[in-house]
Amino acid sequence: MKINKNFLDLEASYLFSTVNKKTREFIAAHPEADVIKLSIGDVTKPLCPAVIEAMHKAVDEMADEKTFRGYPPEQGYDFIREKILEWDYTKRGINLQLDEIFLSDGAKSDCGNIGDIFATDNTVAICDPVYPVYIDTNIMNGRKDKIIILPCSAETNFLPAIPGAGDSVPDIIYLCFPNNPTGTVASKEYLKKWVDYANAHHSLILFDSVYEAFITDGKYPKSIYEIEGAKSCAIELRSFSKTAGFTGLRCGYTVVPHDLVFDGTELNTLWFRRQSTKFNGVSYVTQRAAEAVYSEEGQKEIQENLSFYRENARIIFEGVTAAGFKAFGGQYSPYVWLQIPQGFTSWTFFDELLEKCNVVGTPGSGFGKMGEGYLRLTGFGSRERTIEAVERIKKAFGKK
Ligand code: MLT
Repeated sequence: MKINKNFLDLEASYLFSTVNKKTREFIAAHPEADVIKLSIGDVTKPLCPAVIEAMHKAVDEMADEKTFRGYPPEQGYDFIREKILEWDYTKRGINLQLDEIFLSDGAKSDCGNIGDIFATDNTVAICDPVYPVYIDTNIMNGRKDKIIILPCSAETNFLPAIPGAGDSVPDIIYLCFPNNPTGTVASKEYLKKWVDYANAHHSLILFDSVYEAFITDGKYPKSIYEIEGAKSCAIELRSFSKTAGFTGLRCGYTVVPHDLVFDGTELNTLWFRRQSTKFNGVSYVTQRAAEAVYSEEGQKEIQENLSFYRENARIIFEGVTAAGFKAFGGQYSPYVWLQIPQGFTSWTFFDELLEKCNVVGTPGSGFGKMGEGYLRLTGFGSRERTIEAVERIKKAFGKK
C-alpha cells in the first residue's frame, strides 16, 4: 500500500489548526490569561429564532412515520433550492435553473471536492494571500506544480492583475470577493475583465462569494452571475455559515450552470455524478433550517446578526487605525487586515499580540507569502470581547 504522496507536499498542519495549537500552548503556560480569540472566522451568535423553530418542527417530522424522511434528493430538496433560486438570483435579475444549484454541507467541502472533476494537469491561478484551502486541495490533487500565483498587494488594493499577453494562461482561476483574508471587494468592471478573459481563453473561474452578505449598499456585485458572460465560465460557491451563522450546522451550495461546457462535457453533469456518488446530501433538518433563512422573520433576524458583525469589524478597523496601524477591509467584510509594525514577521507579531494583549489573530503569512507583514482579525466575536481586544491593542501599541 502506498500513500498519496501529494499530502507530503503540504504544510504539516492546516493554518487554523496551527493557530489553535499555539493558542492552547499559550493558555496552558498562562492559565491566568484572559485570551480573546479573533482568529478563525467563526460566528459567535446563536442561530436565529426562525431557524431554530424550523429545526424543531423538522425534528418532530422525523419522529413521525408519516412525515419521516430518509435520504434527501442528491442536489437538495426543491423547497430550499427554490428559495435560493428566487432570493439569491431571480430577485437580483439573474436567471438560473433549479438543477444548476447543488446543496451541500458547506463551501469549504465544495471548494475542495470540485477539484475531482478537473484533470490534474490543469494549471490553476490562485491569489496570494488566499484562503489556504484552495492551495492545499490542489496540492492534494497533484497540482502542486500547476499553481500559478497571482500576487496581491496593497498597491492594487489586493486585486490580482489579470494575466497579460506574455503570461501563461491558467485553466482554472480562483477568485474570492469580498476577499478572505484582505477584506477587499471587487467592482463589476473589474470582474467583467476576468469574465472576458476566462471566456476568451476557455478558462474556468471558481468564484467564492461566501462573504457576499457583507455587501449591503449595492455598490459591488454579490454574485459572479451579475457579470454578463459569467454563466459560460464560472462556478459559484456560497455558504450559510457567514450569512446565517451555520458554521456548526453545515450548509452551503454550489452553482454549476449548464453553459459550462469543457472538453465537450457539461460540468453540471460531472458534478452531479461526483456528488451523487460521494455525497449523500444535507440532513432534512438542516435543509429546513436553511429554508427558514429566507422567511420574512429569518431575513430580518439574520440581517440583525450581520449588522452586529459589521459593527464589530468597524470597531476593530477604527480601533487599530487609532492605535496607529494601517488597516484594510472591515467594511464589506468581517475581516480586518492589519499591517504589522516594522521589525516583526507575521508569526512574531502573532506572538507579541498574544503575549502583550492576550489577543489571538491569524498571521498573514499563513495565507501565503504575500501575506507576510500582515495579521487578520475577525469581527465575528462578541461585542464585549471585541471592544476589550481593541482597547488592549490601543493600550499596548497606541502612541503614548
Ligand atoms: C476563516 O477564518 O478564514 C474561515 O472561517 C475559514 C472557513 O470558512 O473555513
